[in-house]
Formats: sequence, C-alpha cells, structure tokens
Amino acid sequence: RAMLDYPSSKLANIADLKVNEPMDIGYPDADSPGVLLKLGTAVEGGAGPDGDVVAYSVLCPHKGFVMSYHGADKTLNCPGHFSRFDCEKGGQQIWGHSTQNLPQFALRVDDKGDIYAEGADELIYGRLSNVL
Ligand code: FES
Repeated sequence: RAMLDYPSSKLANIADLKVNEPMDIGYPDADSPGVLLKLGTAVEGGAGPDGDVVAYSVLCPHKGFVMSYHGADKTLNCPGHFSRFDCEKGGQQIWGHSTQNLPQFALRVDDKGDIYAEGADELIYGRLSNVL
C-alpha cells in the first residue's frame, strides 16, 4: 500500500505502553482520533525493539463512527454497522461494509524510546486527501 506522508508527531514513549492496553492518540491532528498499541507479539510493520507497536485510526472507514478496541482478539470494532479490523494484520477488515482497510500509521521509535507517527497507509475517514 502507498504510504501517505504527514508531518512527524510524537505520540508517546515506549515505556508508557503496557501490552494490549490501548492508548488514545490524535494523528495527524486532534480531529483524527487513533489508538497506539503494544500487541505483545511481533507483527509485520510493528515498531520498537519487540516489533509489536502499531497505531491505527479509530474512525471507521465506512461512515466514520469511532471504534473501540477489543483486547481478546486484538480487533477494532465499529458500533455503527459492526465492521471489524485486525490490529495484528495491518488493519485488515475481518468483516463489514468498508471498501478499504483501516488506516495504519507509520511509526518510528528513536533511541530514547520516543514513538513518532510519520504517515498513514490509507485515507483517513472524512478526508479528501492525506494532506493537512
Ligand atoms: Fe463502521 Fe458503518 S460506520 S461499519
């Protein structure tokens, strides 16, 4: 998938994260809620020393409802029409009405453990382009 560039933005420090406990973030700005997650097992595209840190938009790509995280199966779930997205598989849609997968934010972790978001791999709901 094509990565769309946004300005680099510090989200948290790796020491702030606990396994499978989602942290609310806003990226690329406060109007774009997201979630930062340490999954506990390395995944493709995962950042940090354990390769398990990921971040996603929580706006459902279907109609923009705010989704919630279910730790039991590591999915984001939409209260609108019940779409589900897999946080271990790059935001792949498991079920639902959306015509795209969930936007995943590209992460970089520096040598102090600070986590930066630096782009998104899909269009965030409600935006005409991934440009501020
Ligand atoms: Fe999420 Fe429709 S808004 S499935």
